[in-house]
Amino acid sequence: MNLAIIGTGYVGLTTGTCFAEVGHNVICVDNNAAKVESLRRGQIPIYEPDLEDLILSNVSAGRLSFTTSMAEAVAACDIIFIAVPTPPNEDGSVDLSYMEAVSHEIADCLRPEYGYRVVVDKSTVPVSTGTKVSQVIYRYAYEGVEVDVVSNPEFLREGSAVADLLHPDRIVIGADSQRAMDMMKRVYQPFNAPILEVDLHSAELIKHAANSFLALKISYINAVSAVCEKAGADVELVAQGIGMDKRISRNFLNAGLGYGGSCFPKDVKGFINISEQLGTPMEILREVERINASQLERFLNRVREKLWVLRNKKVAVWGLAFKQNTDDVRESVAIKLIRRLCDEGAHVTAYDPKASETAAAVLKGYKVDIVDDMYDCVADAEVLIVATEWKQFAVADLVRVRELMKLPILFDGRNIIHGENAIHAGFEYHSVGRRSLYPQA
Ligand code: UDX
Ligand code: UDX
Repeated sequence: MNLAIIGTGYVGLTTGTCFAEVGHNVICVDNNAAKVESLRRGQIPIYEPDLEDLILSNVSAGRLSFTTSMAEAVAACDIIFIAVPTPPNEDGSVDLSYMEAVSHEIADCLRPEYGYRVVVDKSTVPVSTGTKVSQVIYRYAYEGVEVDVVSNPEFLREGSAVADLLHPDRIVIGADSQRAMDMMKRVYQPFNAPILEVDLHSAELIKHAANSFLALKISYINAVSAVCEKAGADVELVAQGIGMDKRISRNFLNAGLGYGGSCFPKDVKGFINISEQLGTPMEILREVERINASQLERFLNRVREKLWVLRNKKVAVWGLAFKQNTDDVRESVAIKLIRRLCDEGAHVTAYDPKASETAAAVLKGYKVDIVDDMYDCVADAEVLIVATEWKQFAVADLVRVRELMKLPILFDGRNIIHGENAIHAGFEYHSVGRRSLYPQA
């Protein structure tokens, strides 16, 4: 099938590439001409495992191309996916101006002679946005165009986006027209995954409800981690114990510094806002946000308790990305942590395997030394903080790290380092929701 993807960001680029990989012809459209140019030259603007190879092979096979021309894509493609940003406004509501602009542009490019078209909303949007997209298209399009709007939310995680897309747990298609539903089922037929067919509004709600539930699960275990710290219990064992119940599952029960990224913070806010507008406020999600913010504060308090005054202390931070296997620093808790440390006068040196450049851009004005080597990062440091769950931090040579540091203090904000290894290397080891460990005298 011929598919257009509007918006070639994390979501649009990976989705379009995976559609091409299963055999569709895909045109990716972006209004950022420089991005389109570099994609045409084979330069991939983001880091995502396996993505580069897939893009290059599908471009060579003639199934994937990039353009700034909406008209070209709308003329050639039966189905047009919208994957443009839907960022939060100051008040937590969702900024739908890109959605509106793109809907209007699609309308301008549609012609009755092209025949039936399906416009699909991939971006996370408040319930009922699909109806508005449809209204905008019919308001501005030529008379005689035939379009249905569908919601097909994306559940990919950055860092494992390609695998998530090619092997999804489920595909949700929300359509109020059988003709559109049948076309969408053809798109997903090669994926061999269960398809849930629902109405438009239910599909839109599934996305907000799913992401908010996952955020709630993380905040739940983080709240439990605070109790564990006071009670002398171990949150990892508690997570294991409750996660072995299949009704709960161990996934997304990793305590840490809290959730970040371009989705959870924004989607929780968006769901709170739309539920309030509908007169059925999801109060529980306010608590989810409160717990998420308090997790970093509690952790900082413990670092402060240990070092007393942070001014002029040399602090090494491992991790800048909002999670492992990505260069994305949007709403990264590691970045928030570094800003707080700098505000208090600490000298911060940081390392991340992939996010140095993206982090440097958002840390402008902060005196942070971002280095290229995880061991150089810790030289002379008085404390090492692990802020992102990269695997390479879990398997670091802690004896070498200890030798390089001025003081043997390790704060593991993601519970990924083996505590016993840390104390054998001579560290005192502080983590989240567990007792601190000290080397034997
Ligand atoms: C975005 C949204 O953040 C998310 O809510 C939604 O679920 C999917 O789309 P992401 O792919 O991570 O997620 O955004 P981003 O990496 O910022 O990429 C968006 C792309 O859209 C950019 O390349 C931008 O240039 C492009 N864009 C934006 C357009 O092509 N047209 C526009 O009008 C606006
Ligand atoms: C999320 C959803 O998982 C995905 O389905 C949706 O399409 C987009 O939003 P993403 O934000 O890419 O994906 O990454 P995810 O793996 O969900 O992690 C989000 C944040 O939660 C990260 O900051 C991560 O460190 C944190 N997290 C995750 C935890 O703190 N504990 C966990 O157990 C899991």
